[in-house]
Amino acid sequence: MEFSDLARARRSVRVYAPDTRIDDAELEALFAEVVLSPSSFNLQHWQFVVVRDAARKQALRGLCYGQAQVEQCAALVLVCGRLDAHEDADRIYAAEPAATRDKYVPMIKGVYHERAGLQREEAIRSGALAAMSLMYAARNRGWDSGPMIGFDAAKVASLLALAPTSVPVMMVTLGRAVTEALLPRGYRRPVSEVVRLETMDGPALGA
Ligand SMILES: Cc1cc2nc3c(=O)[nH]c(=O)nc-3n(C[C@H](O)[C@H](O)[C@H](O)COP(=O)(O)O)c2cc1C
Repeated sequence: MEFSDLARARRSVRVYAPDTRIDDAELEALFAEVVLSPSSFNLQHWQFVVVRDAARKQALRGLCYGQAQVEQCAALVLVCGRLDAHEDADRIYAAEPAATRDKYVPMIKGVYHERAGLQREEAIRSGALAAMSLMYAARNRGWDSGPMIGFDAAKVASLLALAPTSVPVMMVTLGRAVTEALLPRGYRRPVSEVVRLETMDGPALGA
């Protein structure tokens, strides 16, 4: 699908057709595209937990303020970000030329060392980009999706056995939308309101 069509076709879905299955092969194809997302220093902070089990989805719904799509979707993906992704710098740069490796590996370790705030920002930044990739990749392959932050992060982390070094970024539900249940696209701030040229007090684009 052309990106212009994809951008228009993606919607946040809250009502899914029940009994839709997404199999491992489809998930593998989807995530093979998601992991091409960009990340700081290519550290790829993202991790994903895919939940398809009905009882587990039901338990999760209770931690998501009862949001029904959590139970109806074919798969619920918890997108996470690793706080310690920088510790893998040696492995990530192992195949790079020595000059690149010798420059970046110490730089990465220095930048993130004992900087909890930056580690968290980066985990969430990379995770959010991967979540967006997941939603577009899904639509491109004929799936619908919905991002969600309405959940009890600590309880979800515990239910899905996250390591203390992994933070929940957002959930993304996947399935087939009941299109009749889709509301019209919500208001969008005009480009002229959100884009300024050169500095934030510069002229608005297209105004
Ligand atoms: C980070 C984030 C968290 C969201 N959390 C929820 C949520 O918990 N429940 C929900 O129904 N929609 C949630 N949404 C969906 C937004 O309401 C939706 O993206 C917005 O209204 C625009 O609609 P559209 O995506 O169909 O264009 C979330 C979206 C984002 C990006």
